[in-house]
Amino acid sequence: MASKPWGGRFESPTDEFVELFNASIDVDARMYAEDVAGSKAHAHMLCERGIISREDLNDILRGLDDILGEIESGEFEFSVALEDVHMNIEARLTEKIGDAGKRLHTARSRNDQVATDTRLYLRRRSDEILARIRHLQAVLVELADAHADTIMPGFTHLQTAQPVTLGHHLLAYVEMLDRDAGRFLDARRRMNRNPLGSAALAGTTFPIDRDMTTRALGFDAPTRNSLDAVSDRDFIIELLAAASICAVHLSRLSEELILWMSAQFHFIDLPDAFCTGSSIMPQKKNPDMPELVRGKSGRIIGGLVAMLATVKGLPLAYNKDMQEDKTAVFDALDQLEGCLRVYGDMMPGMQVDKEAMYRAASSGFATATDLADALVRAGVPFREAHEIVGKSVAHCIREGIELHQMDAAACRRIDERLDADMVRALSVEACVAARDHIGGTAPTQVRKQVVAWKKALAGDEA
Ligand code: ARG
Repeated sequence: MASKPWGGRFESPTDEFVELFNASIDVDARMYAEDVAGSKAHAHMLCERGIISREDLNDILRGLDDILGEIESGEFEFSVALEDVHMNIEARLTEKIGDAGKRLHTARSRNDQVATDTRLYLRRRSDEILARIRHLQAVLVELADAHADTIMPGFTHLQTAQPVTLGHHLLAYVEMLDRDAGRFLDARRRMNRNPLGSAALAGTTFPIDRDMTTRALGFDAPTRNSLDAVSDRDFIIELLAAASICAVHLSRLSEELILWMSAQFHFIDLPDAFCTGSSIMPQKKNPDMPELVRGKSGRIIGGLVAMLATVKGLPLAYNKDMQEDKTAVFDALDQLEGCLRVYGDMMPGMQVDKEAMYRAASSGFATATDLADALVRAGVPFREAHEIVGKSVAHCIREGIELHQMDAAACRRIDERLDADMVRALSVEACVAARDHIGGTAPTQVRKQVVAWKKALAGDEA
């Protein structure tokens, strides 16, 4: 029987399938660098506090460095019988350096070890995701700059509502991504506490120095309650929530790109490198990347729901159920990072059919609100103006014309206060230019926002 670090009280070996089923090494091997870093910090502290000798410390450090090299060069053989990354590394260390390796686990448990490693690993991944979010924001800001005065229809209920600028539309996603970044930063801040020293659940009888390992591992502070530190997984749930919300934002953008690329909209074209064809229909160019990103959001949300359900009935402190946490959060972050990467690479190549957008904005009575506003400015109460323009629209639908094509006689017939000049002055350019206030769609406002975003993103402070 492959000797288990915990084998002492057992009389018969682990069931063969249980060995496989129980192992998490497939999932947690990727935390090897964090496991080594945590062990080094722990060993330094043990030595400093006189719990292990300087000689043992040196052996441990050398052994761990060797192991890091073995893993990185692909020589290291991870064993399922040794369950997880923690026991794999510890067993190898003992194999290499003997007794000193066996002393490393003094004043420590896998419970505080896994809580520490996971936090360290996810801290790094959060930073990577954050960089991807910032990059995508920068890409969208560039596009918004190029399309500050590209006019398109704005929709509510997916029905033409009012003209907007494409730059304004893109900057809406820059705002969403900024809140996403804020959620990751926020989760990172709460996550960055050091559980090491909590041991199995109650702390340890050895005279440890938790501030020392906290400093060594770049944590902000030690956790304050050992039971909480080894059993809390809300830092994972928070990351999954942040990832889910970000994925939902990308999914909404995806849905729009998919619609816009259809022959019926014809607003955009996406680069060939991000699309695929059909094996039967030769004419097809499918927006696979937006579709896939839209699909991934379901999977990422699944991870969040899985973790909430896993944790909800668990008594304190550690329970094996918690081993499932890494599957959920690693997959979610991997997928989200992929989505952000694809978008960061794909969006600069998006081609915009400005004419098609302009045509769409110029039909469907997108200027109706502005005609009502013009009547209000001439002294008509808004509700009456609304009614007059509604009748005008009905007239235009019957005649097959747009509002600005109504002649003076038609205007007078609908309402004497409806002036042919008002109608003739209607244009989509005037509509967007007039919404010239903070948060409005006017090109001047979009340009101001672009300048502010470029400055903020250059300083990585939004
Ligand atoms: N592989 C385990 C996990 O990921 C490590 C902690 C195991 N602790 C224990 N007492 N069995 O949760």
